[in-house]
Amino acid sequence: METVEWSEALLLDFAPMDTAHRTLVDLLAQAQSATDEALPTAWAALLAHMEEEFAEEDRWMRATRFASASNHLLQHHVVLNLLREGAAMARGGQLAPVREMASELAAWFIKHTQSMDAALALHMRRQDGPRSGQRDGVNHVKPG
Ligand SMILES: [Fe+2]
Ligand SMILES: [Fe+2]
Repeated sequence: METVEWSEALLLDFAPMDTAHRTLVDLLAQAQSATDEALPTAWAALLAHMEEEFAEEDRWMRATRFASASNHLLQHHVVLNLLREGAAMARGGQLAPVREMASELAAWFIKHTQSMDAALALHMRRQDGPRSGQRDGVNHVKPG
């Protein structure tokens, strides 16, 4: 079983993302250690968090016209659809594929965080950089 633990390697130095990712890691660990009885609820909690987190990242990308948004938006969309299928399976008592999905999600999350999210975090930090507050035509999106 592939798992993910919070570590420095996942830190992106953009607080709202780091906070959301830390929660995701916790919720995923809870789902992976959940009993069969608890798995549907744990999965629903993970899904709800990821819907929020992805929606927030999507808003940042759109509001700041992030150049590499389209792949990132697509990946969020595809992953959420899979997780929703997982939720339906969990509710229906099909737990083995959901546990498999949790493992894949752990591996995916590490990659996604270190590539697409890292690029977005860098971009967002620049939005809040030295030019903040100037009327330079850039949308300065406040996190949160
Ligand atoms: Fe993220
Ligand atoms: Fe993302």
